[in-house]
Amino acid sequence: MQITVYGATGTFGARLVDQLGERGHTVIAAHRGSGVDTFNGNGVAEAAEGSDVLVDCVNRVTMNGRQAVDFFSHSSRSIALAAAERPGTTVACLSIAFRPEVGESKLLGYYQGKAVQERVYRRIVPSDGLLMFRSAQWFELVDTMTVTAGPVRFVPKMRVQALAAAEAVRMMAETIDTGETGTVEVAGPEVSDFAEIARRLSAQRAQSAGAKPPKVIGLPLPGPMAREGLIPPAPRTSAVTVDEWLRTL
Ligand SMILES: NC(=O)c1ccc[n+]([C@@H]2O[C@H](COP(=O)([O-])OP(=O)(O)OC[C@H]3O[C@@H](n4cnc5c(N)ncnc54)[C@H](OP(=O)(O)O)[C@@H]3O)[C@@H](O)[C@H]2O)c1
Repeated sequence: MQITVYGATGTFGARLVDQLGERGHTVIAAHRGSGVDTFNGNGVAEAAEGSDVLVDCVNRVTMNGRQAVDFFSHSSRSIALAAAERPGTTVACLSIAFRPEVGESKLLGYYQGKAVQERVYRRIVPSDGLLMFRSAQWFELVDTMTVTAGPVRFVPKMRVQALAAAEAVRMMAETIDTGETGTVEVAGPEVSDFAEIARRLSAQRAQSAGAKPPKVIGLPLPGPMAREGLIPPAPRTSAVTVDEWLRTL
C-alpha cells in the first residue's frame, strides 16, 4: 500500500514511517519541513495523492485548551477533507485513550483538543474508512511532562496504563496492515502512577551516569486523571513492562 504519514518527524511518526517501510509499504513522510502544514492545509492534499491510507500523527504540545482545540480541529479537518476528495482512502487517527470526563476537563486542556480531533474525523470520514487508534500514555511522555527545578523534578501524579511508544507503533502498524477500521485501544501491561514511572526512569539515568538520582515529586491532580480517567476499559495490551523498556534505553 501507499501510506501518507502526517507528523512523520515526531516521536511516534518517525518510528511509524520506519515500521511501515519495513513491512513493505511505500511511505510518504509529511511534515512542515516537507512543505506540508496540516494547520493551514498547505500541501495536505498533494501529500495524499495516490495513498490508500492517511495517518494523522501530528501534534502540538500545549496544556492550553484553546490552543489545543485550534490546532487539532484545523489539522484533522484538512486531513479528513483530503481523504474525502479521494473516495476509498482510509484515515487512521492516532489519538489518546481517555474517558469522556477527561475531554471535558479544563485542567489539562490538551485533551479538549484531542476530543475535538476525534469528533471532526467521526463527522467527516465514513465509519468504514476510519481507524481511531487510541493509545494509552507512553513511557516516553515522562520527559515531556517533567518540570525541572535544580535537583528536583516535578511530574503530575496520574493513574496510567502506559506502554512503550515502540509498542504502540508496532500495534498501529499491525492494525493498518490488516485493514481494520473502527476504534482500537491499546495500553501497557500494568496500571501504575505516572510519577512512579518518572522515578524509575530518573534512577536508571542517574545510575548509568554514576550520579545521585534526583528527587521526583508527584504533583496531585484533582479530578479524573487521579482516578480511572486515562485507563482504557478493555484495551489490547503490550507485554513490555516499564522495567523491560528501561533495559532497552
Ligand atoms: N505522548 C503520548 O503519551 C501519547 C499517547 C497516545 C497518543 N499520543 C498522540 O500521538 C500523536 C503524536 O504525538 P508525538 O508525541 O509523536 O508528537 P511530536 O513528537 O510532538 O511530533 C509532532 C509531529 O507533528 C508535526 N507537526 C506539528 N505541527 C504540524 C503542522 N502544522 N503541519 C504538519 N506537521 C506538523 C511535527 O513535524 P514538524 O514540526 O517537522 O512539522 C512532528 O512530526 C499526538 O496526536 C498525541 O496526542 C501521544
